[in-house]
Amino acid sequence: MALATLKEVLDIAEQTGTAIPGFNIDNIEIPEAIITVAEEENCPVIMTIGQGAIAAGGLKHLPDVVRSVARHSSVPVVMHLDHGAGYEQAIACLRAGFTSVMYDGSHHPFAENVNVSRDVVRAAHAVGVSVECELGAISGVEDGISHDNTNLVDLNEVSKFISVVDCDALAIGIGNAHGIYKGTPDIDFGRIRACREMGAPHLVLHGGSGIPEDMIRKAISLGIRKINVATELRLAFMKGLGETASGGDIYKMYDRAKQEVMEVVRAKIRLFQQK
Ligand code: 13P
Repeated sequence: MALATLKEVLDIAEQTGTAIPGFNIDNIEIPEAIITVAEEENCPVIMTIGQGAIAAGGLKHLPDVVRSVARHSSVPVVMHLDHGAGYEQAIACLRAGFTSVMYDGSHHPFAENVNVSRDVVRAAHAVGVSVECELGAISGVEDGISHDNTNLVDLNEVSKFISVVDCDALAIGIGNAHGIYKGTPDIDFGRIRACREMGAPHLVLHGGSGIPEDMIRKAISLGIRKINVATELRLAFMKGLGETASGGDIYKMYDRAKQEVMEVVRAKIRLFQQK
């Protein structure tokens, strides 16, 4: 089927009180593994292309991979830009056929975040593409960039932001972090409820790897509709490669790596869909 937009699949999640996984993809094998399980579980998926993947391979081939996966898929697939760096990158992704772009201005002054987010929304909505924005920078290490401070989202900023930026989804910093958590994450669930009560767009939880299942369930019950997972997929893929590398058979290596990824994907989909 044709690629879906982020808004389309998150509207479904809202109706069903579930969350849709945003899985980062870095090669051909990871999306193959994701779509196999998504079809088995009959769950829409967001295939997310992040800054690391773009730095490594540009915007040429991965978008074609996602388009191809979607064309052959029985479930909706979204092609999404993760942590977009600015207006120019958003435009490049619109040209490359993405159906959803994130602009992450959370590390910039609030006024600048508002201005660039509005520009990205205007350009994306003009061509029917969804937009995710971010408030309260999410800590941890992603794509080699480290943000150490846990930055809880400022609820006054959320209120101002959503009154002037018509984005389709909003990522919020609530104690979540990219990469592996040191200990149990300290998630501020009250801020999810507060953002929802003030009418925020679909809420997004980044740093989905390693958050305990009960916390994920609670976050979804309070209104999180998209959960991003990258690190656990990459570790699973590399585990599979590592276990088979000495055999010297590339197809066996990829097959094992994909099986490892599929296990993670299945567990996340069942958890996020409350199955
Ligand atoms: P993890 O790597 O912690 O799963 O986070 C992924 C993410 O939030 C991508 O934006």
